[in-house]
Amino acid sequence: MAIRPIHLLGSPVLRERAAEIGEVDDELLHLVKDLFDTMHADDGIGLAANQIGLARRVAVVQTEDDDALVLIDPVVVEQEGRIKGEEGCLSIPDIFADVERSARIVVETSTPNNERVKVEATDLRARAIQHEIDHLDGVLFLDHLSPLKRRMLMKKWHKLRKGKQGYIKEVQPEEETTTRL
Ligand code: CO
Repeated sequence: MAIRPIHLLGSPVLRERAAEIGEVDDELLHLVKDLFDTMHADDGIGLAANQIGLARRVAVVQTEDDDALVLIDPVVVEQEGRIKGEEGCLSIPDIFADVERSARIVVETSTPNNERVKVEATDLRARAIQHEIDHLDGVLFLDHLSPLKRRMLMKKWHKLRKGKQGYIKEVQPEEETTTRL
């Protein structure tokens, strides 16, 4: 189990467009495992490679116990409807806002077995996938907000970060007893 430090808002890698993966190899599968370990340790429902400092097009999503999804070179190939819902981000702790996203999507992605498949998603899972694909394009949920709302949240962020150095957060594994219900 390898929990990696998470890059926070301000770290340049969060603004990079991540590079295509292409062929899935053992090294990538290791990275996928680290993404899951880090996401679970920080109690998240999604994590993209940019957030652990690697600009590569791989991310993981897990909104329920039984639906872990690996996204490798993901592309949204269908989208339908628009819906607003609250989002946060492990790279921007304690900041939340309503973001409008597609209500239903179909995403094409490589699997850990190196096959291209299509996955349909709705509700929170669709939201999480869109949020993670944004990360791979250097986009953060704040970018979807009105300038006024964004300014307000940035003010709050700078207040929260006052006196703190750097843009890397060490993640401590959660105690088994504190995992969310
Ligand atoms: Co995020």
